[in-house]
Amino acid sequence: MNILENISLKPYNTFGIDAIAKQFVTVNSLSELKQLISTEKDIFLLSGGSNMLLTKNVEKLVVQLNLKGITSSDLNENYVLVTAEAGENWHNFVLWCISKNYGGLENLSLIPGNVGSSPIQNIGAYGVEIKDTFHQLEALEIATGKTHVFNADDCNFGYRNSVFKHELKGNYIITKVTFKLTKHSHKINISYGAIQTELKNKVAPTLKEIADAIIAIRQSKLPDPKEIGNSGSFFKNPVITVDAFKKLQNKYPEIPHYIVSENEIKIPAGWLIEQSGFKGKRFGDAGVHEKQALVLVNYKNATGQEIYNLAQRIQQTVLQNFAIELEIEVNVI
Ligand code: EPU
Repeated sequence: MNILENISLKPYNTFGIDAIAKQFVTVNSLSELKQLISTEKDIFLLSGGSNMLLTKNVEKLVVQLNLKGITSSDLNENYVLVTAEAGENWHNFVLWCISKNYGGLENLSLIPGNVGSSPIQNIGAYGVEIKDTFHQLEALEIATGKTHVFNADDCNFGYRNSVFKHELKGNYIITKVTFKLTKHSHKINISYGAIQTELKNKVAPTLKEIADAIIAIRQSKLPDPKEIGNSGSFFKNPVITVDAFKKLQNKYPEIPHYIVSENEIKIPAGWLIEQSGFKGKRFGDAGVHEKQALVLVNYKNATGQEIYNLAQRIQQTVLQNFAIELEIEVNVI
């Protein structure tokens, strides 16, 4: 393994932040990874770099996980288990599944990042989360080098959440993830209004048609990280009580919302940020995307700290205006 010194992480994070890694190594196999963590415990694991904001240099050994491969095995007549190694690009993996006509991940097309980090935040979009098709994952425990298998219950999935963001944060390296997908009789989910519009109310769309619709919707709203640095939704959509919601609705009758449970309502953070006047605003090279206020962007040379300062300013303003605390979704380093 070739350990490099003082490497810019700009090409390795979708925000395009120019932070420096003290050391950097690419790991190409599980045996290399095991060998590395047998001596080096204080590592910084780099996956697709699509859900983090680097506000400073990384004074550690940065490990780029380049584990590749996709395999499948029939579970029964209706289901197939598909396993992808952690370093597979998420969208390429989704396309692979669609090419085999395996159903369940098509709504998650075009999400940036790699398979290995997808369970950490239980990635989700357009009415689907990975917990819906998740079967199990394998992870190496950094302290012991042992492999552990986690099923869905072990992962404790929630909205943009899992055990890997909390109790087990930094303790494990996810090396492969298995999904249970449909072989036919797909349970498609096109409840999200924009999908139906995009599909022009087609009655039985194929997986490919659904994926194409999702791709078109995402491309129309979300900036392509190859063109403008970003990390997708910067904040989580806040969940508030029904009582708090009713007060807000009296003042803002048009407030968009989703019912989470009998007593909980989710409000789109993008709406709160837009109402607070930030949509499309630019402060130097840090900005708020013009088509989706939930996405903070790096126009070119913003520092992570500048993006973070903007995030804090947004949090303060939304708190003042709506008495709602926005929680940052991306991993701030
Ligand atoms: N809205 C605004 N202004 C904005 C943006 C949104 O008013 O600038 C309002 C609109 O009323 C809109 C509603 O918010 O109808 C919802 O917007 P959208 O459908 O774009 O979804 P979102 O709630 O803003 C979430 C996810 C996205 C995911 C979409 C679609 C979170 C934090 N974000 O965004 O996930 O693609 O739903 O399912 O839950 C990501 O995690 O990186 C991500 C992009």
